[in-house]
Amino acid sequence: MTWLLLLQMSAVAQTGGGERLFAAQCAICHGQNGEGGRGPTLAQPVLPRAPDDAALTRVIRAGIAGTGMPGTRLNEAETQEIALHVRKLGQVAAAVLPGDVRRGEALYRGKGNCAQCHMIDRAGGTFGPDLSNIGLRRSPRHLRESLVDPSADVPRGFVWVRAVTNGGKTASGARVNEDTFSIQLRDSSGTHHSLWKTELRELRKELSKSPMPSYRGVFQEAELDDLVAFLAGLREAQ
Ligand code: HEC
Ligand code: HEC
Repeated sequence: MTWLLLLQMSAVAQTGGGERLFAAQCAICHGQNGEGGRGPTLAQPVLPRAPDDAALTRVIRAGIAGTGMPGTRLNEAETQEIALHVRKLGQVAAAVLPGDVRRGEALYRGKGNCAQCHMIDRAGGTFGPDLSNIGLRRSPRHLRESLVDPSADVPRGFVWVRAVTNGGKTASGARVNEDTFSIQLRDSSGTHHSLWKTELRELRKELSKSPMPSYRGVFQEAELDDLVAFLAGLREAQ
């Protein structure tokens, strides 16, 4: 029994600390094999935000400010082990998406009317997040899920707020803070709004609900493939 346990432990040690650390700290957002999830796919030969080893180490240590990529508290050796593992994940052929980019773009502009709420290259609405580099930020799986089930992956604690002031001005966005007297939101363009509750005519809060409509049933499977291929290709450098 003890002997078996020891054997197992040494096997774990040999599979590499990087893999274990990755499973514990990164897989929740990047997928067990780096295939991506809420975070982008890491199983690709070139990482746009981490093109060389120094950049990769920096990203793992400090995260990417202003994004969903958090920093870590790993020591030097652990950071190197994870970085090595990430590079190993990248030694695969880039996944080829089944959809057609141009058909996807046509659906985006036409049937989906996505530009009503989203901007690409500074053109479009500001209600939803800017999608100019969504292909860098999210994996294909997450993109697909965003379309058919927008509320599935609204981050825990995310509260969508819509407020109307007595003067008739509307502000909607994610709740940043709230107390008895006031509420602070950040709208989809990144602007902060601080509002006194006594000055509001209406205050609506929706927990874990996305304000984006679901496109389940609106698009056929093949159309979803096309849209995902189009979105995954949006990689404008900032
Ligand atoms: C809470 C979710 C989350 C966790 C945990 C997380 N990441 Fe990320 N990561 C993201 C998101 C989101 C991005 C995209 C940021 C952006 O550019 O908007 C990202 C981006 C990256 C990038 C840049 C990818 C590229 O295409 O250039 C690397 C590298 C990375 N993460 C590695 C890691 C590693 C290694 C870990 C574990 C130590 C980790 N991440 C943990 C969410 C996460
Ligand atoms: C009525 C406004 C509205 C329309 C129309 C709309 N969206 Fe959205 N979308 C949003 C909002 C708001 C969010 C942010 C909340 C969330 O993540 O669900 C969002 C989120 C997303 C995300 C996830 C972004 C991320 O950072 O993970 C993607 C991808 C997306 N939309 C693509 C589309 C596409 C493609 C279409 C058209 C087929 C579309 N949206 C139509 C409002 C809209």
